[in-house]
Amino acid sequence: MDRYVTGAVIKRLRESKKMTQEDLANKIFVSGKAVSKWETGQGFPDISLLEPLAKALDISVIELFSGDCVENKNKSSNIKKCKFYVCPICGNVIWAIGDAVISCCGLTLPPLEPEEVSGHEIKTVPVEDEFHIYVEHPMTKEHYISFIAAVSDDGVQIAKLYPEGNAEARFKRSRVKDIYAYCNRHGLLK
Ligand SMILES: [Fe+2]
Repeated sequence: MDRYVTGAVIKRLRESKKMTQEDLANKIFVSGKAVSKWETGQGFPDISLLEPLAKALDISVIELFSGDCVENKNKSSNIKKCKFYVCPICGNVIWAIGDAVISCCGLTLPPLEPEEVSGHEIKTVPVEDEFHIYVEHPMTKEHYISFIAAVSDDGVQIAKLYPEGNAEARFKRSRVKDIYAYCNRHGLLK
């Protein structure tokens, strides 16, 4: 985890649940004074209290850490709003249809926003029932394209790439709407 749960987060979540400090305290078997101390930064909840605390606030422990309550209003989800997350430590790539709190290697990952970067042109060539995708980009250990993805209205195709390889991928053409590539230095490209 990149940080411990903060008093401000506990207070905000408690108030959004219309609970008093006493209400919350009673739910997790601590004193109202203890809750007051956490909220004013004079103490932290013991680690053994994190699960009951999250449960009392109706969120997951991960959300409690991130300070965000994730709620996807459109339950059927809109694939156009899908998000990519990349772990800067292990290189893990996660694709989510909606908002999520994603944690990897102890970091809470922000969703990637596509960037406009010059010299990172994505070329798409239709070949029979496939798209051949090329990115004009170096593929050195220090600076490379680490994945290419094709998002359709019904799913995603992801090709993981490695330094010294080629910055290219082939995807089934059907229903592909958007092509993304990820540069380890310059971020997400669309
Ligand atoms: Fe780059």
